[in-house]
Amino acid sequence: MNTHRKPEELRSYRWFGPDTMRGFSHRSRMQQLGYRREDFTGKPVIGIINTWSEINPCHAHLRERADAVKRGVWAAGGFPVEIPAFSITETYMKPSPMLYRNLLAMDTEEALRSLPIDGAVLMGGCDKTTPGLLMGAISMNLPALFLPAGPMLRGNWNGQPLGSGTDIWKFWTERCAGGVSDEDWNAIESGIARSPGFCMTMGTAATMTALTEALGMTLPGASSIPAADSNHVRMAIDSGRRIVQMAWEGLLPRAILTEAAFRNSITVDMAIGGSTNAIIHLVALARRCGIELPLAVFDEIARRTPVLANIRPNGEFLMEDFYYAGGLRALMAEIGDLLALDCVTVNGETMGHNLEGARVVKPEVIRPRTAPLAENGGTAILYGTLAPDGAVIKTVAASPHLYRHSGRAVVFRDYKDLEARIGGDDLHVDANSVLVLQNAGPLGGPGMPEWGMLPIPKKLLASGVRDMVRISDARMSGTSYGTCVLHVSPESYVGGPLALVRDGDPITLDIPNRRLDLEVAAEEMARRRADWRPPAPPDRRGYLALYRERVTQAHLGCDFDFLSQEQAGAPADPAIW
Ligand code: FES
Repeated sequence: MNTHRKPEELRSYRWFGPDTMRGFSHRSRMQQLGYRREDFTGKPVIGIINTWSEINPCHAHLRERADAVKRGVWAAGGFPVEIPAFSITETYMKPSPMLYRNLLAMDTEEALRSLPIDGAVLMGGCDKTTPGLLMGAISMNLPALFLPAGPMLRGNWNGQPLGSGTDIWKFWTERCAGGVSDEDWNAIESGIARSPGFCMTMGTAATMTALTEALGMTLPGASSIPAADSNHVRMAIDSGRRIVQMAWEGLLPRAILTEAAFRNSITVDMAIGGSTNAIIHLVALARRCGIELPLAVFDEIARRTPVLANIRPNGEFLMEDFYYAGGLRALMAEIGDLLALDCVTVNGETMGHNLEGARVVKPEVIRPRTAPLAENGGTAILYGTLAPDGAVIKTVAASPHLYRHSGRAVVFRDYKDLEARIGGDDLHVDANSVLVLQNAGPLGGPGMPEWGMLPIPKKLLASGVRDMVRISDARMSGTSYGTCVLHVSPESYVGGPLALVRDGDPITLDIPNRRLDLEVAAEEMARRRADWRPPAPPDRRGYLALYRERVTQAHLGCDFDFLSQEQAGAPADPAIW
């Protein structure tokens, strides 16, 4: 056992060690739970922060996995305690689960801060759970490692593999165009999600868990293991063993999460063609570490990183195939020359050491450098008169014929307006139009719902149109596709230029030159700005009122301003009395 610290130097010793009335109380209550004093005193107490919930199907297996983590913790001489955390389920939480990422971050930080914890295993995977858990753990800065829930198995319908999200969008579009029967639609519903685990396309969940591994915060190879695979159980046990050692060593998240680690993570994001949501989350995570990640860094790294993962929605295969092809370690080994290999990871080794021996065994799934899916990065950052603080587009999911496009705006003032009019025969729209959605940003949504893949107007679907330029301050599901400009900042709700767009305005998208411009004269824009009035905030109570008051814009990560490192400083350990 690697014991750099003495037992009395453990944080939990402050609760359990002293011969005081409080120490007595803390020990006696552990004995109430059936433990002896020697079970927990002077041993690393490991908090297993578990986002299991019966209404979170992506995490259905995490109760069992927590037991596996406990086996590892006991075996390594630690004392495990499972702590439930707010479970953000992407499927069911309305209006947008993104609203609650910061709540989970606070829940995690405060649980770790207020309880006698020496180290934490963070269990999550469904989209916002990964950044939420990490943000809290970074702020608390106790030894911590992340245990990814793992992707579900491939979906299946009529012998065809089905991908979460991506194939729903695809078959729904065909159904709207009259091409899918009721019987087939019902069979797809039964076959698309058939095991525990998160979405098995390269959506936000698979992206964020991969980026967490690239940051060095999981055991090597952990993020690619399907949830239902027995290797996942062994990885959970190993995570339990390892966190006990980390608690003795005092290996802290902020020693791992350096600027170089974030650059590694962005490089991997580009090579996997990751979800655009990752940009917001990485910016927020970095700011918790006191590191600024301007959007321009993503663009710079994208320009030199090839897309190698041939996974839907960008490619052909699914996460189960990615695992069999060698998984993330194999992909990272393929781009090893683009990575800082001396970054330290949670197993105490460098990233370079962890990648030794990794190799791609199915080059059709993880492409070689000589035959990438795309020559450079999956994402571009756009600036221009319509997005002074930036906007994001997933180029690898966009149609090449729309990379340069000018068209007239068709404006929807909010999502309700979009739903009411998008299917109408009287909508003045053609295939060259640019669809614009307002009031769907961090405050406007609120919570930046994933409305950014605006549906193609029904009357154009019938004539065979399947993609158009779409612009909003919303996000888009990582499983979505299309020429969708997202995260326009500042958002329309706070009076960004997006709020001033009117029907018929010419808009130019120029991805090669990274521009997004509203071609309206400055004098006219000034007139419109003078007429613009901010909407009245509808939420005056509870968490939503706090969210509206303190959330930052998309280019700053949508964190609460009072939780970012520079404003808040580090949380203090509580006094014990
Ligand atoms: Fe949980 Fe997609 S719904 S990851």
